[in-house]
Amino acid sequence: MKRIEYTIKEVEHSELARVKEINELVLPENYPFFFYETLYQNYKDVFLVAETGNKIVGYVMCRIERDVVFQPLPRFKKVGHIVSIAVLPEYRNKGIGTALMNEVLSRMRRYYDVEYVYLEVRVSNEGAIRFYRRLGFKITNRVKGYYRDGEDAYIMTLYFQ
Ligand SMILES: CC(C)(COP(=O)(O)OP(=O)(O)OC[C@H]1O[C@@H](n2cnc3c(N)ncnc32)[C@H](O)[C@@H]1OP(=O)(O)O)[C@@H](O)C(=O)NCCC(=O)NCCS
Repeated sequence: MKRIEYTIKEVEHSELARVKEINELVLPENYPFFFYETLYQNYKDVFLVAETGNKIVGYVMCRIERDVVFQPLPRFKKVGHIVSIAVLPEYRNKGIGTALMNEVLSRMRRYYDVEYVYLEVRVSNEGAIRFYRRLGFKITNRVKGYYRDGEDAYIMTLYFQ
């Protein structure tokens, strides 16, 4: 398989429309433009794109959330949420998805000190489940009817500590 050169970088505002376009080409979970803008405004450093030549071919976008723990004393902990990741079909299996994930996971740890990262994935999306497992994620829950068409989601989680 031919190797390609690509760069992983923070998204720019002018690239949000292209990210939205890739999302709509690849995934059934789509969002209005303001959703991308809100993630861009709040979590730009964990909203990354993959560029090859002058073309954006993939993205990963995230949110930092809080989870409450009660033991030994109540406190909030920071948690990373992978909201969406996609690579255009003709650029898959070249390591771009892994590079996007490795960079964003490392940024969530370094910049936000998150204790774990989680995501939702369709129970039928075997390729993505294998991809996340290879990165160290484990299935931690199943949410019935999570998707609009009624399909269940697995919650997959990567614990850092
Ligand atoms: C999931 C997704 C983002 C992965 O992106 P990708 O760029 O193909 O990811 P990678 O190339 O890093 O890894 C994919 C596979 O290629 C293999 N691979 C990685 N680098 C490679 C290389 N240089 N040459 C050949 N194969 C390679 C990996 O081993 C991996 O194998 P696996 O399927 O057993 O895990 C992509 O398939 C996608 O966009 N899917 C549709 C959207 C989707 O399902 N998103 C997740 C929703 S929850």
